[in-house]
Amino acid sequence: MTIDSIRKDEHVDLAEKQYQAASQSDFQKIRFVHHSLPQMATTDVSLASHLLGYDMPLPFYINGMTGGSDKTKVINQQLAEVAKASGLVMASGSVSAAIKHPELSDSFKVIREVNPDGIVLANLGAHHTVENAKRAVDILQANGMQIHINAPQELVMPEGDRDFSMWLSQIEAIVKGVGVPVMVKEVGFGMSRETIKQLTDVGVEWIDVSGRGGTNFAAIENARRSTFSYDDLENWGQSTVVSLLEAADLKNDAHILASGGIKTPYDIVKALSLGAEAVGLSGQFLHMVLENGPEKTVATIESWKEKITAIMTLLGAKSVADLQKTDLMFHRDLIDWCDMRSIDYKAYGKRS
Ligand code: FNR
Repeated sequence: MTIDSIRKDEHVDLAEKQYQAASQSDFQKIRFVHHSLPQMATTDVSLASHLLGYDMPLPFYINGMTGGSDKTKVINQQLAEVAKASGLVMASGSVSAAIKHPELSDSFKVIREVNPDGIVLANLGAHHTVENAKRAVDILQANGMQIHINAPQELVMPEGDRDFSMWLSQIEAIVKGVGVPVMVKEVGFGMSRETIKQLTDVGVEWIDVSGRGGTNFAAIENARRSTFSYDDLENWGQSTVVSLLEAADLKNDAHILASGGIKTPYDIVKALSLGAEAVGLSGQFLHMVLENGPEKTVATIESWKEKITAIMTLLGAKSVADLQKTDLMFHRDLIDWCDMRSIDYKAYGKRS
């Protein structure tokens, strides 16, 4: 096995080992104000959303995870079966391994083979050239591209990158040159308003803030290290909720997406109400296919549709866009963050 294949297997094993069912994130620090007269029916709710210009029947998607080994090929196959049956957009994990070792391409191509008509996104790191990005799109026959930015992970990873000076210009080149729509995403460390602004300034239109609270790549890479570990970095970064607050002023400049620690229909609705246009899940879907297999995962997603519809009805929201007008209550910790960062948290719920 190549070092890349071993790493891909270790990421999956450690993500699943460290998976926690309970929502630990800041999602518990926001509440909806309950109003007793919804004045609508569950049949009025539309769960439709869009991503990179493509229509989606549901406002969530399978976020970038894996590929690059025999074991992860099976996982990609199962995730693709779920994507096909549920109509979900699915992103691959970083295709970098297949660009370096073409014999690993099958573990990515399986996503397209299982789901020939689905919306599939290829994933690469920000240090790659436009040419590599085009190859990644070609391998998956992808409809779009995710570029991940993961500086803390690279630094904790013994074999990771150490020079990030070209990332923004590489991102700009890929957005302009790859020929498919591009989303830039974090990998669970969240984003600041400044980062989002830098990205929109170079032409990025779709941004997944992917915050802290779920899969923790500092913890995963620490577990792979044989010398000292970077324990302090396990708490690095902004939560998904805080990252969405950071994005509050920039929603006219970019489409904001959320991921990181999203595990339940309630989390999904909260992220949408904080301004995300759609929501990505990785660790949760990985856990569901490993634990229960694709069929039961599809059944769970069916139940989520009903639960999201129920919560939206309670909130009087007929669409994902309506959710952004709901009344939210923030825990003191979040208010303190907003005060320090001059974020107008009182605007939530008062938006028309
Ligand atoms: C990831 N993630 C990820 N992201 C990315 O852009 N490229 C990648 O190759 C990977 N690889 C990967 C492997 C595994 C096993 C997991 C669980 C996750 C990160 C992922 O897309 C997401 O940003 C974070 O995992 C946070 O979301 P969750 O897992 O808390 O829902």
